[in-house]
Amino acid sequence: MKNQKKIGILTSGGDCPGLNAIIRAVVKYANIKEWEIFGIPRGTDGFIDVARGKVQGDDLKLQPHGYDVPGVLQGLDILQFMSGSVLGSLSRGNPKDENVTKDILEGYKILELDALIAIGGDGSLDIIYDLAKKGNWNLVVIPKTIDNDVAFTERSVGFDTARNTVTQALYDLTFTAASHERIMVVQVMGRDAGHLALHSGIAGGADCILISELTPKLTEKTIEGICKYIAKLRKDRRKFALVVIAEGVQGLDNKKDPYIAETLANLITEYSHRLCLNDNVNYEDLDQVDTRATILGHLQRCGVPSSFDRILATVFGIKAVHLIEEERYNRLVIWQNGSVESKSLEQIMPMIKWCHQEQTCPSPVDPEGFMVRTALSLGIYIGESHFYPDNISS
Ligand code: F6P
Repeated sequence: MKNQKKIGILTSGGDCPGLNAIIRAVVKYANIKEWEIFGIPRGTDGFIDVARGKVQGDDLKLQPHGYDVPGVLQGLDILQFMSGSVLGSLSRGNPKDENVTKDILEGYKILELDALIAIGGDGSLDIIYDLAKKGNWNLVVIPKTIDNDVAFTERSVGFDTARNTVTQALYDLTFTAASHERIMVVQVMGRDAGHLALHSGIAGGADCILISELTPKLTEKTIEGICKYIAKLRKDRRKFALVVIAEGVQGLDNKKDPYIAETLANLITEYSHRLCLNDNVNYEDLDQVDTRATILGHLQRCGVPSSFDRILATVFGIKAVHLIEEERYNRLVIWQNGSVESKSLEQIMPMIKWCHQEQTCPSPVDPEGFMVRTALSLGIYIGESHFYPDNISS
């Protein structure tokens, strides 16, 4: 077993808070071991630059003082507080051009790396796994994404900070909603997974939460359900409401809608009027409701990483170095039962690849899980899901 190693590290796919905290942990620990560590810029594109002679290996070396800023804040440690990725991250999909693949593999070879730490979500995992197979790379993957949908890990770096950001946004919107007696419809990221919407909806006091695992698409029944729910709140003298909708929920036309919150806000207004016109029931002046939509967008990927994300990032980074030290390659670092573990990529990739092929989320919200039950127990409207357990506390 070789003691001194040369390792590469890259970030791939959409950024999230905590990426720099991983880089900092890996560089610190690898430096203690006197390993050489190379920061590959812009995901696997950095290897192309090496292959084409645009950068030399030595330019990519990361050292404890590689990120000095002027003044008193010396060294690497400041990195853990910064969101984004100092290495840059591209989400360009699978390289289709054979020459691009050839250059990526060539760049890796030129650097003579013993192993690569790739920080990515399940999309990047799929692409880098294939490259690693072709190039015979020794790969360790660290999961990151605000969507928290990487299979086999309970947590991915970035999710906790995003959950705090969305929770804070819901808290902030509460007061303007209350002041104007408005219905605020808030669109939350997560791609096809509803974890971010569900968790922050519960923590941020949402009245309705729509996620694609329970409400794959808007239906007339769901919109009517929301309106009736709002009428009930109004009867109880709550004149405002917060409605959270995950971006994965499709419109009435079965299509993805980048402005689904806007669409839903308009539908709530329209259906409220319709209900009041057509029914003889007292809907508490529902036809007067004022709705507004907020799309939180990429703000959900920003902000100072939460302490949990920094800890997770650090623990994951150290674990990745350990795995390389033990020469246990081709593994995904995971968080399981409050501890850090790892899982063989050989074992997990067939399932991940199948999900991508079928265009289904590898790690969706469990419709019967405790988070859904919690929302139900709070009386939160979660759509007209067929799943309403008899005993929500079990
Ligand atoms: O996967 C992270 C994520 O932020 C998703 O929640 C969102 O759908 C997507 O990336 C947005 O991607 P982009 O930054 O390419 O617009």
